[in-house]
Amino acid sequence: MKKDLISISDLSGADIGEIFRSVREIKHKTGKARSVDAAKGKTLAVLFEKPSLRTRVSFSVAWAQMGGHVVYLAPGDIGLGERESVPDVARNLSRWVDAIAVRTYAQKTVEQLAQHATVPVINGLTDDEHPCQTLADFLTIEELLGTTQGIKIAFFGDGFNVCHSLLLTAAKLGTNLWVAGPKDYWPKKNYIERAKKDSEKTKASITVTADADEAAEGADVIYTDVWYSMGHEKEASKRRPLFKKYQVNSKLLAKAKPNVMVLHPLPAHRGEEITDDVLDGPNSVVLHQVENRLHVQKAILYKMVCKQ
Ligand code: CP
Repeated sequence: MKKDLISISDLSGADIGEIFRSVREIKHKTGKARSVDAAKGKTLAVLFEKPSLRTRVSFSVAWAQMGGHVVYLAPGDIGLGERESVPDVARNLSRWVDAIAVRTYAQKTVEQLAQHATVPVINGLTDDEHPCQTLADFLTIEELLGTTQGIKIAFFGDGFNVCHSLLLTAAKLGTNLWVAGPKDYWPKKNYIERAKKDSEKTKASITVTADADEAAEGADVIYTDVWYSMGHEKEASKRRPLFKKYQVNSKLLAKAKPNVMVLHPLPAHRGEEITDDVLDGPNSVVLHQVENRLHVQKAILYKMVCKQ
């Protein structure tokens, strides 16, 4: 694996397979990654420009369970790029900590941190990607469906960070991904192109459409995310009517396979992108997804920081 995990593009399909195998060892308590000593004497900096429940807690608990120490740097604590330049923060942190998990607005900020840090940098969400989330998502699908290859995932809503990472991961793992949303909110062209290029090798199909029904038809997995992410809250009233027909509700679920799995990275805006009955219903596996953030990040940390 590379020094940093900034994008799903930093991983090969084989790397992802290795992470999933490591998670199985962690869950069945057969591998070293579960050891309370794996991170003994090591410190993880959790440096976040945006709020977080799942990412902050799952990284912190993962590292604590491996015997390591966490330093949390909240939005505004260090004035990343304001009080001090990003390269200077990276150089300083590298003298004290063994790895940095980071959440920023701009992808460029994480790239700069990684470029100037001598320790591993792990992307805990940017405006462009959310690789740890997507790895937990595909792990969840593999655990519950037995495979991620050749199945149909239909994503509904905003072609933003989570959707970008889904595109890249689906292409690497041979998963057929449909993205349905208003045309003005489709994923960035370069993510669609990169996914389509990778999918040629794995025979996955990547389809972006405005037709919600076509995307839902026969889907094995239905995935949605908020219609306006952190930083886009002011656009809520403009976006709601545009995204309405992409809401994940019982009518949309009826077009998919009867046992379709419903995923959401959370937090959810209940009643907007997903209805209560679906989020809390029998097809929803969102809490399995949530738990897998912990296991997958433990495996990533073990491989990138502990296993030398
Ligand atoms: N899914 C996710 O990353 O949740 P948080 O924003 O709470 O970390």
